[in-house]
Amino acid sequence: MPELTAAAAAHPNIALIKYWGNRDDALRLPANGSLSMNLGGLETRTRVTFDPALEADHLILNDAVAASGELARVSAFLDTVRQLAGIPHRAGVESWNNFPTGAGIASSAAAFAALSLAASAAAGLDLSEKDLSRLARRGSGSACRSVPGGYVEWLPGSSDLDSYAVSIAPPEHWALADCITVVSAGPKPLGSSQGHRLASSSPFQKARVAGAPRRLAQARRAILSRDFDALAQVIELDSNLMHAVMLTGQPALLYFLPGSIAVMQAVLAWRGEGLPVAYTLDAGPNVHVLCPAAEAESVRQRLARLPGVLRVLVALPGGQARWIHPPA
Ligand code: PMV
Repeated sequence: MPELTAAAAAHPNIALIKYWGNRDDALRLPANGSLSMNLGGLETRTRVTFDPALEADHLILNDAVAASGELARVSAFLDTVRQLAGIPHRAGVESWNNFPTGAGIASSAAAFAALSLAASAAAGLDLSEKDLSRLARRGSGSACRSVPGGYVEWLPGSSDLDSYAVSIAPPEHWALADCITVVSAGPKPLGSSQGHRLASSSPFQKARVAGAPRRLAQARRAILSRDFDALAQVIELDSNLMHAVMLTGQPALLYFLPGSIAVMQAVLAWRGEGLPVAYTLDAGPNVHVLCPAAEAESVRQRLARLPGVLRVLVALPGGQARWIHPPA
């Protein structure tokens, strides 16, 4: 019997135009298209082995046995792979992040992108980038954007078949830096899978979704023409709109901490003085501060001096998810 094992690595990504709310929760078909940058230097590595001798799936995260909720989510995802490949075997999955947990970097995108590559190859499937992105989407919506490289757009599609992500520009296209400004390493009030379900309870979600294609087109144009000022305006607006929806759903989700506000205020003031910086926040209190890579060190030092800032990690645009050979 052939070796049913494979390994892969993928980067997390930061959404510049946000995905928030699903048209279909089970298939993770998004309410709107979104756009992101992969975070180079930060990665998840995952090895999967399907084993006829196993009675249940096993999951090891950063050398520790995973909690039952995490295992259940991975097992449900592996069921999709087993169904596609027509194999019954349970699997052992081991996964390592090279970035600190609790640093406010969504790890599920990198995790499910790496798992899609590793599990599909271990199961004997030979999937295209499009089909790998569709598969990753089933684990975590934003994971579909960690499959292609560089700057990535998720085409929302109308069904499972046409909802996937494509690269709009490679990492070398534009040296932007994401200064990930950590103001809390604690757990978030609510994970994003549950958060998406609350989006439609906000009276603002309809307006946010209606304007998303226009903002996405503006952000795409700004990236393709390397226009930092245009990008800054639209990504801050889009982040504010998503948080307005979060704040006005039932129940409301308030992710901002005093440190988040201090960083946003400082970014606006610095940009007013002519420094090219812009902020965006995912479903958490930590602030992603974008700037041209040439400014990253001075921006990092400024951010580190602000009240409430615990640490600042700097990431440059990252490449596509990749297989690791041999899968050791
Ligand atoms: O992929 P999920 O279910 O973790 O959702 C991600 C949601 C945000 O990070 C808030 C926005 C995004 O587009 O990544």
